[in-house]
Amino acid sequence: MAGAVFITIEGGEGVGKTLFTEKLKARLEDAGKKVKTTREPGGTPAAQAIRELFLSPPEEEALEALTELLLVSAARHQHVKKLIEPALDANYWVVCDRFVDSSRVYQGIVGGYDRTSLETVTKMSIGSCEPDITFLLDCSPEVSLNRLALRGVTGQQSNRFDAANLAFHRQLRDGFLRLAKEFPNRIVVLDASQDPAAVLAQALNTLKEKFGISFD
Ligand code: TYD
Repeated sequence: MAGAVFITIEGGEGVGKTLFTEKLKARLEDAGKKVKTTREPGGTPAAQAIRELFLSPPEEEALEALTELLLVSAARHQHVKKLIEPALDANYWVVCDRFVDSSRVYQGIVGGYDRTSLETVTKMSIGSCEPDITFLLDCSPEVSLNRLALRGVTGQQSNRFDAANLAFHRQLRDGFLRLAKEFPNRIVVLDASQDPAAVLAQALNTLKEKFGISFD
């Protein structure tokens, strides 16, 4: 049986990470695990304050890709030191909505920031706190854009990235899939166009195989 496990959830916009994270938490708790869910950017008060600037910079001043990377990395370092590592040390399973792969895709592949430098900054921010497993929720941009439109109807919060076009969503998807090829032992691709119960079932099977956890 595994001790504490660090799980990250990744994917583009509108792929269903939030609902997936909630459902995964419930199933892990039913299986007797202590679970902490969190998200990036954010997770601690200081990291949350950085999130506000990151997601809503002053209208007259767009953030450079490096500025975005440094902001999100600063938030991440606080998050790792103040929340994630202490929780893992206390034997919690940590489920984090977005982590380093989001920086690799948004600031690196899409934002154009140099990958080698990005990896140096990332290493500085997380140290040895690498995810044990990452679920990549993957679906076509058409499906995710449709979900974002529905989100608008149901009045959920939107952010500056949500307004981006189909090409941007396609770039995000391709970027995450490229990372899945690069880290095949860590990143598990889930077909997020299925209904939420089916997506979750795929994830639970993987956790069973990889960590010997039983969900019966
Ligand atoms: P959020 O409203 O939480 O979006 P989502 O529900 O899609 O996660 O906003 C987080 C945004 O921050 C999202 O557009 C992705 C972006 N982001 C980065 O650009 N780099 C990062 O390293 C992280 C963690 C997030």
